[in-house]
Amino acid sequence: MTNKIAQFVALVALFIQCGTSVYAQKTSAKNIDTRVAALLAKMTLEEKIGQLNQVPGDISTGTDVAKDDLLTQIRSGKIGSLLSHTNFQNKITMQRVAVSETRLGIPLIFGFDVIHGYKTIFPIPLAQAASWDMGIVEKIERIAAEEASADGQNWTFAPMVDVSREPRWGRVMEGAGEDPFLGSRVAEARVRGIQGNDLAANNTLAACVKHYAGYGFSEGGRDYNTVDMSEQRLREMVLPPFKAAADAGAATFMNAFNTLNGVPASMNKFLLENILRGEWMWKGMVVSDWNSFGETIVHGAAADDVDASAKCLNAGSDMDMAGGTFQRGLKRALESGRVTQAQIDEAVKRVLHLKFALGLFDDPFRYLDPKRRNETLEKPDYRTFAREAAAKSMVLLKNDGGLLPLTEGSRFKKIAIIGPYADSKGNKDYMSFWTLGLGMREYDSTKVVRPAQALKPALEAMGYQVTITEICIDAMCTEKDYSAAINATREADLVIACLGERGLDCGESRCVSSLNLPRDQERILSITGRLNKPIVAVLFNSRPLVFDWATQNIPAILVAWQPGFETGNALADVLTGKVNPSGKLPVTFPKNLGQVPLYYNHLNTGRPQQQQGQMWTSGYLDSPVTPAYPFGFGLSYSQFNYSNMKLTKPQYKMNETIEVSITVTNSGKVAGEEVVQLYIRDISADIARPVKELKGFEKINIGAGESRVVTFRLTEKDLSYWNNEAKFKADPGKFKVFIGGNSRDVNELDFELIK
Ligand code: BGC
Repeated sequence: MTNKIAQFVALVALFIQCGTSVYAQKTSAKNIDTRVAALLAKMTLEEKIGQLNQVPGDISTGTDVAKDDLLTQIRSGKIGSLLSHTNFQNKITMQRVAVSETRLGIPLIFGFDVIHGYKTIFPIPLAQAASWDMGIVEKIERIAAEEASADGQNWTFAPMVDVSREPRWGRVMEGAGEDPFLGSRVAEARVRGIQGNDLAANNTLAACVKHYAGYGFSEGGRDYNTVDMSEQRLREMVLPPFKAAADAGAATFMNAFNTLNGVPASMNKFLLENILRGEWMWKGMVVSDWNSFGETIVHGAAADDVDASAKCLNAGSDMDMAGGTFQRGLKRALESGRVTQAQIDEAVKRVLHLKFALGLFDDPFRYLDPKRRNETLEKPDYRTFAREAAAKSMVLLKNDGGLLPLTEGSRFKKIAIIGPYADSKGNKDYMSFWTLGLGMREYDSTKVVRPAQALKPALEAMGYQVTITEICIDAMCTEKDYSAAINATREADLVIACLGERGLDCGESRCVSSLNLPRDQERILSITGRLNKPIVAVLFNSRPLVFDWATQNIPAILVAWQPGFETGNALADVLTGKVNPSGKLPVTFPKNLGQVPLYYNHLNTGRPQQQQGQMWTSGYLDSPVTPAYPFGFGLSYSQFNYSNMKLTKPQYKMNETIEVSITVTNSGKVAGEEVVQLYIRDISADIARPVKELKGFEKINIGAGESRVVTFRLTEKDLSYWNNEAKFKADPGKFKVFIGGNSRDVNELDFELIK
């Protein structure tokens, strides 16, 4: 009896929580497809088109769109999803209206850009890739998903997997750099972290792989610009991380803003129908980018909303983000025979499938539990990990004479920490615009540990005297700011110069036409540099920058990227040697802007240049062709030597495993981590192949004076390329295999692939 009462009470409670959600209670089938079909059969055309409509919430990341009263629209079944909504209580209200005040009670799905952390901010994605540690990358996403899901988000617009060779492009910071192999490993790790093993669990989110495809190759590094490339480049450079993410089970994809070979990505059948859904047999849902359906009209590829709706749906796109194009045009596209009912149903099914998979029909409030929210956001453990992740993603580019780490009993007694980023309280400094979980402007900036806050006490505890001198670099600043830096430098034995980019200069629509240290910061270095004090330059950057003067004249350079909340602590850990730096560049750093695009996996040309000035070779009169710092480069406080590289055989048959090993010795005085990288070159293929292609890497820890043998295994698949017959295939013939600690300094062997 008591049991029955308890059951009744539980049922009533459930009823109250879910309101009168008709559908949530009437479907019991386990199989999602059956449940989707049953629901679809009850829906009107308007309700179906409503499910394909995604509307912005309280944050806008694109051009302004008109927003009617959200609750009214939800009530009338016109909205299937919301994006960028931060207010927790409002999400509960909106969900309640969706499940209890609409005819079918279909829950909303809340999407959000969780790019490098949600409430706890981690290093930017490019920095994460620089760790070359997939465990770190996955765990960052796991924590971000824990926080975002506890705050009512169900779906993140991440990972961005756009390979890019364009440092001018502001969004290079959101990806994993220039290499498709590293990019693929990062893409998988991020999907694993975001989605976990069970989409329906209340601490996981659906991933959205973006931007499909080609966005990272926009001309001139200008956002939203034209992309034109061969299918071979598309297949080998752009698509692999998308494929890897699809294979890792990513639930959704996002269209790119750009045209690809003339066709806007949102209406690109070749990308969506032929490749994604056809060849890859991927079953998920595709959302537009912000108004990218509507922008097909601006591209000049669609006449009006009806035409745009027809073209985008026909190509295989499903949900319309922020533009309202489907709302205005899809019904008329159906009436005029431009799309079929079956096509609309297919798109709606994909949206509903996602909602079922997330468990939203079983419990629409699964992600809206205030208690879990309170317990989950910003746990101290997350911060501890943010510190580790930031330290492990920093890349030491120069360390002449072992200037770093700064240890106790050093000959330097007085340290001046100078520069605009020594102690900056600037909006979103040390992170990026893509930290929307904190809000756009009104966030608590004291959550960021600034360099001065952590570095000063850490160095003082070791007996140093430390001064902090911020340098203003705004247009209003005066010479006084420089004289303060000069005076501080004069007084000091060693200078730590904190330079780089503002947080708000990193991300979408933040492209640049110069890669110099912004706002004349080179001047800070050259003025202080003339005083002949050893300088450690710390760069807070979101993209490869150009700092040739520093490379020539400054003994130590550390790329700290935009490290997130634990900036100061992580920096102190690295500069004092508590953490031995182990990051490696996931992008080439050029010597000057004119070299761009500059990337390690280029073709050789018929006339490769060995030395600047060599006439009739492929080069520049006024610049070398070599980079400032190559892909894969990064120093450590240990020294790693590579020896005894071995292949098991000189020849391998097509289906045999190629095994190659090398001994890595830490000849330094401290234990350290090294990213051992394997590259290949196919030297007798049917088409010209890159001078190097990354095909493997392993991050290993080696004690001082110890050695480790690292073995890589390659298969025919690793040697294959997109050939003239439009297939991935390996050619028999000669290959080179290289192993080293970066893409330039390698050991090499030859082998042959035979039939
Ligand atoms: C960006 C996407 C982002 C979306 C939603 C767009 O402007 O290109 O990457 O997910 O806005 O904020």
